[in-house]
Amino acid sequence: MNQALQAIRGMSDLLPADSARWQAVEGAIRRTLDDYGYREIRVPIVERTELFQRSIGEVTDIVEKEMYTFDDRNGVSITLRPEATAGIVRAAMEHGLLHNQRQKLWCTGPMFRYEKPQKGRYRQFHQFDVEALGFPGPDIDAEIIVMTARIFRTLGIRHVSLQLNSLGSSEDRARYRADLTEYFRAHHDALDEDSRRRLERNPLRILDSKNPAMQAIVAGAPRLTGYLGDDSAAHFAGLRSLLDAAGVAYTVNPRLVRGLDYYGRTVFEWVTDQLGAQGAVCAGGRYDGLVAHLGGEPTPAIGFAIGLERLVELHSLAGHAAAATIPDVYLVAVGDAALLAGLRLAEDLREASPPLRVEFHCGGGGFKAQMRRADRSGAAVAVIIGDDEVQAGTAGVKPLRGDAGQASVPLAGVADAVRRALAGVA
Ligand code: HAM
Repeated sequence: MNQALQAIRGMSDLLPADSARWQAVEGAIRRTLDDYGYREIRVPIVERTELFQRSIGEVTDIVEKEMYTFDDRNGVSITLRPEATAGIVRAAMEHGLLHNQRQKLWCTGPMFRYEKPQKGRYRQFHQFDVEALGFPGPDIDAEIIVMTARIFRTLGIRHVSLQLNSLGSSEDRARYRADLTEYFRAHHDALDEDSRRRLERNPLRILDSKNPAMQAIVAGAPRLTGYLGDDSAAHFAGLRSLLDAAGVAYTVNPRLVRGLDYYGRTVFEWVTDQLGAQGAVCAGGRYDGLVAHLGGEPTPAIGFAIGLERLVELHSLAGHAAAATIPDVYLVAVGDAALLAGLRLAEDLREASPPLRVEFHCGGGGFKAQMRRADRSGAAVAVIIGDDEVQAGTAGVKPLRGDAGQASVPLAGVADAVRRALAGVA
């Protein structure tokens, strides 16, 4: 195929052979969120660029290097969403959902980041994103984390572990930032270009550097843990005791800083060693300052996102099967009159009580060719109509997986005959 017409690098097609696994994983997450009382919200895939700049932060990898940003035909700068939190918060504010109300919301869909594609890291990827708005915590922090643990359990995924940290309040971070700036200034010569640029505007981002050459300097930097004020420390202790009581194991990782600026206090990541370099499967935290920062009333908030490509891969590595749904019946219709009667019969079977899953043969062909297709479809029963059956007002019902022979049945009795044949197979 002409290369210019191929899919864009880092953006994948989901082929039919893989969609059953995706549906199984997405279905399990949806049901869990629903059971916990979270409701779906859908927001646009593009937003004004400024929303992401203000929410995620100007001096972050995402905003500086990874956004798909372009002007629309009116010259307005818009961006393909790199994440869902900013859009959900915008929508909640715009529709008054935060006015004397609390919200437990989820959203799913594609996100876009111009990262270097590799296994587990794509330019179009998919998230399940969850946000709880209006809850000061730490009870909601615990509930959210317990819920993520249940999602992994429900999917039978075991090789994940939870890392936890507190980034403190904005006042805590301001004190920390002053000391951190001093520390990095003292190591100015060893900083890479990105870090030097970030030193004055956003020194916390240096801790997040992906450059291996920076790791030693980062490791020697002061730790935020020592700067937590009483409120932040109490919040963190409260969350930890709730998680202990709920039996959710975690490791406190003082180096966990997250790559987006809106976080404060609780942050967490579920990581795995099964996916090579891209170990974070689910990540999030508290962002109590964001709503006010975007011009709304101060509103405490926490959320997380699961990376679906990574979760689906873990589900597959765990050896779980995810078979596509197969039809109950493959309807074979040979001849023009049979085609008319067959199409009608297929609809009747789909409306039977309980309904049957029917794949209707399209594309013509003789009896043998159609029966080969019936066999390949995986259906347990073929319903066969030819000119003779049309004349007689009957259909043939033939089990495809066993030794039972074909029976000739009046059209009104086909659904029952199919069910008896299915029961024989089962
Ligand atoms: P994030 O850590 O940027 O957080 O992304 C969350 C998850 O999305 C990651 O842990 C990873 O599984 C997946 N992910 C991120 N980038 C890629 C990529 N290029 N390819 C494949 N998967 C990827 C957020 O997006 C926050 N909005 C989460 C949040 C919600 N915080 C509060 N509420």
